[in-house]
Amino acid sequence: MSERTRHLPRRACLSIPGSSEKMLAKGPNIPADMVFLDLEDSVAPKEKEAARDLVVKAINEQDWGETVLCVRVNAWDTRWTYRDVIHIVENASDRLDEIMLPKVQSAAEVVALDLLLTQIEASTGRRSRVGIEAQIETTRGLINVEEICAASTRLETIIFGPADFAASMEMPVLTGGVQIPEYPGDHFHYVFSKILMAGRANGLQVIDGPYLKIRDLEGLRDFTQRTKTLGYDGKWALHPDQVTVLNEMFTPTQEQFDRAHAILDAYRVATEDEGKGAVMFGDEMIDEASRKMAIKFVTRGERAGMAKS
Ligand code: GLV
Ligand code: MG
Repeated sequence: MSERTRHLPRRACLSIPGSSEKMLAKGPNIPADMVFLDLEDSVAPKEKEAARDLVVKAINEQDWGETVLCVRVNAWDTRWTYRDVIHIVENASDRLDEIMLPKVQSAAEVVALDLLLTQIEASTGRRSRVGIEAQIETTRGLINVEEICAASTRLETIIFGPADFAASMEMPVLTGGVQIPEYPGDHFHYVFSKILMAGRANGLQVIDGPYLKIRDLEGLRDFTQRTKTLGYDGKWALHPDQVTVLNEMFTPTQEQFDRAHAILDAYRVATEDEGKGAVMFGDEMIDEASRKMAIKFVTRGERAGMAKS
């Protein structure tokens, strides 16, 4: 794991095509918690090799502030992966926090990346350890998600990729990761829950992928509500307007943040001063589970820079 970024917020995770100098230059001005410079599906095959140099230049020459900075390489079933990893990690400064591996099908794919990173770090004398973000976006990846999440101590997040997943499932849709009005319920509920459980069981942040209807911000809100309510930490953004919506949605309200603090205070008094395990808080009984839930709100709020009012 990279010590700097494991616990940093990832409310909005912005995708920037690595082949676009213009978009790479704009990246640092967009207030996303995490940014990934893409060498995979947003880059045309004939641009893949040239994009590596543009990405290295953007990492080394631009000021990315505190943003979690990641590069998405191509998947292991292409011919580009090993050179992507070697070129980026050998040439990028320590400011590079993580490598994102798409279309992960098995734990072995994560182990292979971990081994390659270990060799590059040893041979270059790199000071900071590169973290890994893994995307689950195939049926086989979902079947193996529990082993994948436990495959490396470098893993920081597990991400759902709805577009490729819809393709892998052969769903009769032309846009993945948006509402399907004909389906009576949430067609991805099982997938969301399975990935969330596997990620949490291994201490990872859990992230939802892109919402492709970029101009439909109400649709984005509606779809984000699902993963946010389940407990996801953030979602991808493909446009600055999506970043604004996601930052707001994945930050607790001041009321929730203050209430969580009040629960922690009341519970501390009950357990430490009064020797009680359960106590009334207003008209509600709180206990150890309440403390754990409240801690989550406080941690998320603090990560987003909130303070008690
Ligand atoms: C993201 O990579 C997706 O396929 O949804
Ligand atoms: Mg994908």
